[in-house]
Amino acid sequence: MIEQVKAIISKNLPLVTNLSNVSAVLNLMENLNWCGFYLTNNDTLYLGPFQGEVACTVIEKGHGVCGECLERKETIIVDDVLSYPNHIACSSKSRSEMVVPIIKNNECVAVIDLDSPIYNRFKEKEKLVVEEISKILSELF
Ligand code: SME
Repeated sequence: MIEQVKAIISKNLPLVTNLSNVSAVLNLMENLNWCGFYLTNNDTLYLGPFQGEVACTVIEKGHGVCGECLERKETIIVDDVLSYPNHIACSSKSRSEMVVPIIKNNECVAVIDLDSPIYNRFKEKEKLVVEEISKILSELF
């Protein structure tokens, strides 16, 4: 996946173009029901390119797993979203979630959100892969 991301992105393309194709690469991961981006330039996240069902369009800093990631600027893995109070249920199918920040000049400029229909889907392996992808993508912002 990391090699695929490197191969498809280009600094000469608009951000939305790059992220759209990267969302398709992320979607190659097994057992996902949603994956994509939320973008920010202040204290609010806005829905970006994604694969999956219709999702929340606006998430405030601190709200939901995504807003918490924006605040903490670190990866958050939730093994069971149903027992996580600060989870925003965009899809009733989601059971676990991982949100990885994209950091540029020490600021969180976007988050990568992955949802799974099974509990405990996201482990250290997935975290390392998506964090590496996040690092690569930070150069596009
Ligand atoms: N579950 C997320 C909201 C976004 S959707 O999963 C696409 C959250 O708690 O922030």
